[in-house]
Amino acid sequence: MRFSRILSFGRTGEELLRILALQPATLNGLRVLDCPGGPGSLSSSLRCHGALPTAVDPAYALPREHLEAQTLRDIQAVADQLDDDPIFRDDFDKTSYLASKRQAYRQFLDDRQAHPGDYIAAALPDLPFADQSFDLVVSCSLLFSYAPAADGGLLEGPGLDLAWHRSALRELMRVTASEIRVYPAHTQFGAEAVIHPFVEPLLTSLQPGWTARLFHAGCHQGLRGDTVGLVFQRARK
Ligand SMILES: C[S@@+](CC[C@H](N)C(=O)[O-])C[C@H]1O[C@@H](n2cnc3c(N)ncnc32)[C@H](O)[C@@H]1O
Repeated sequence: MRFSRILSFGRTGEELLRILALQPATLNGLRVLDCPGGPGSLSSSLRCHGALPTAVDPAYALPREHLEAQTLRDIQAVADQLDDDPIFRDDFDKTSYLASKRQAYRQFLDDRQAHPGDYIAAALPDLPFADQSFDLVVSCSLLFSYAPAADGGLLEGPGLDLAWHRSALRELMRVTASEIRVYPAHTQFGAEAVIHPFVEPLLTSLQPGWTARLFHAGCHQGLRGDTVGLVFQRARK
């Protein structure tokens, strides 16, 4: 798949929890930042599991009609490329994949209407939070995904380069007291997911006081190959 801009569609929270290998029973009482939250329902699910979610995305500054039009257009932009992409397994269910994105959007609208203060318009690498404001930070389908195509991302043209990734990761670390989960950390060269080329340079220049490791995604989302994310942990004093 190739896109000319960063797409704005969201997954359901339950799918993201599975992908991130997060156990619902461990979430109660945690302050969780979802950046980017997109028009997805992770905050809604986190709230159901007793967590205290905050979602951040520059798209939250858009008027509702504009965000809706953009979300539906971007779900369609993915749909248009699904059939031709060899990374999807033969048993991949395109219909339920697309339906789950529309379901995620409806759940997002309900949750944002009930908790507008938990949805904040901002963008990496500058977040409007004090140091260590969150116990857990999750970041899905922005880092690695929207690197330039030449570096293994989905973007034609410049994309989010390695310098941007370093700044974004530094900012996520600043606002995190304990743990960050980033997904994906794989990319696609050919018909299989493989580890993204930015992973090694980011891990070899990790900030002091942090450890990092790859984790296997809790579900493969219909993709062939090794679907992985990164977990960063702040060392306990
Ligand atoms: C594909 S969506 C991912 C949504 C959600 N995390 C998920 O995985 O379902 C990518 C989102 O990144 C947002 N975005 C673009 N640039 C950003 C930035 N610099 N900082 C934070 N979010 C950004 C877009 O507005 C878009 O909603």
